[in-house]
Amino acid sequence: MFHSEKQQTQDESSAAKKTKKHKKKEDNWRPQGPRDPFAMLNALPEEKQQEIQRALHLFNLGPTLPRTLEQAKKHQYLFWDTQPVPKLDGAVTSHGPIAEEERVVRTEPYSLPQGFSWDNLDLSSTALKELCTLLNENFTEDDDNTIRWDFSEEYLKWALQCPQWLPQWHCGVRVNSNKKLVGFIAAVPSDVKVYDKEIKMVQVRLLCVHKKLRLKRMTPVLIRELTRRVNQQGILQAFYTADIVLPTPLSTCKYWHRPLNPRKLMESNYPGVKQNIGVQRAVKLNKLPHVTKTPGLRPMTSTDVTAVHSLLQSNKSSFDLSTSFSVQEVEHWLLPRDRLVYSYVIQVSDNVPLTTGVFSFRGLSSKILNHPLHTEVREAQLLYCACSSADPMELMEDALVLAKTNGFDIFTALDTMDNKRFLEKLKFNMSRGKINFYLYNWQCPTINPDKVGFVLPS
Ligand SMILES: CC(C)(COP(=O)(O)OP(=O)(O)OC[C@H]1O[C@@H](n2cnc3c(N)ncnc32)[C@H](O)[C@@H]1OP(=O)(O)O)[C@@H](O)C(=O)NCCC(=O)NCCS
Repeated sequence: MFHSEKQQTQDESSAAKKTKKHKKKEDNWRPQGPRDPFAMLNALPEEKQQEIQRALHLFNLGPTLPRTLEQAKKHQYLFWDTQPVPKLDGAVTSHGPIAEEERVVRTEPYSLPQGFSWDNLDLSSTALKELCTLLNENFTEDDDNTIRWDFSEEYLKWALQCPQWLPQWHCGVRVNSNKKLVGFIAAVPSDVKVYDKEIKMVQVRLLCVHKKLRLKRMTPVLIRELTRRVNQQGILQAFYTADIVLPTPLSTCKYWHRPLNPRKLMESNYPGVKQNIGVQRAVKLNKLPHVTKTPGLRPMTSTDVTAVHSLLQSNKSSFDLSTSFSVQEVEHWLLPRDRLVYSYVIQVSDNVPLTTGVFSFRGLSSKILNHPLHTEVREAQLLYCACSSADPMELMEDALVLAKTNGFDIFTALDTMDNKRFLEKLKFNMSRGKINFYLYNWQCPTINPDKVGFVLPS
């Protein structure tokens, strides 16, 4: 993840010359004028706020970021065009970094507009709760603001404090006057295999800007500052995901959803769930066995870590893009955690401690706002699946059974790995949602979803 200081300064000054107007916009995040329309909006009851938001969404004529490559080709990327990422119009055939290593990394943090300061969030303090609040109030899941992600403190610690994490990579922005947290971006270390190269990178996580400060160019400053902090550790590449199209997706994968509790999903109008059949029929159609079928399937324990590590290592060679976990990372990312991580292994016989398969999914809750019956939907997201013994279809059906038993309402998977083999057969529905995978400062040919070997927890 690298862009030289000199180059950055040149890019910034040429961009400034080109669009003085934009520079001014970048430096000016504070809501302007004496009356704060957001304060007025916040003062309204929640239901009223939702009505307004729905109406705004319906008549939304404001600027939106591209969702397709066609739209992206017409978009002017004022920030991303200055970054070491592949251009949208050229097919890449070579493999390697885009910007060569520079010895000097800027020592000073990027400057923030007056009234704002950087703050490394200490997740063992009250900052953890503040981060939860920022994300829960501003990382809205659906367009009409009736369903919201519900990030838990346990989730944030898991997602941000993996082996080798660094406090300066939990990068917050606060308002000086009241210390309110209004922006966040994080990186966690990760070794990634891209084609046949193993690269020390970071994963970029949980980029979020407070709703009141949107469209004021805070994001480029957050990304530049995080890049600087990562470069300081000698790491020059990063990977990240986004539903929007930026220059340039390495792979574009689709979300597939499998209802486990169709009645609740239909009643709460959960996004991505088909509403074109009656509830009774949906319940019948999505019925699952009560018990699992794969012999020897049991929850993963700490005694399985080394075997699961070997299984994932050998599985890696089937993919062009995958993470290279250390044993400590397997322990961190896969060992079961209450309501958060669910991992199961296949042990063929009680006497033989040989693990021949593993799957893992994580739990994510969403709050349903102002619904007469339901308050929460629990989603299971498939993280990893590797197996050398059982039929993958049967194993995934067991994953659905176990997710249902554990109280989940819906199961989500991407069309990555070998997942296409079971998605339709196990009655997953393809949603309109897509996720794009990106690499920073690395170019290589695009990768088909079935050659992507991991899922990034957002
Ligand atoms: C994503 C988010 C931080 C963008 O903020 P914003 O106020 O709309 O955008 P800003 O004015 O600060 O910055 C605009 C620039 O950031 C880029 N940008 C926007 N979203 C981005 C993303 N998810 N990843 C990388 N860059 C992004 C834009 O492309 C634009 O750069 P460009 O001129 O090169 O096109 C904000 O919408 C948000 O907090 N959303 C909710 C959380 C979320 O969806 N996070 C992303 C998870 S992948």
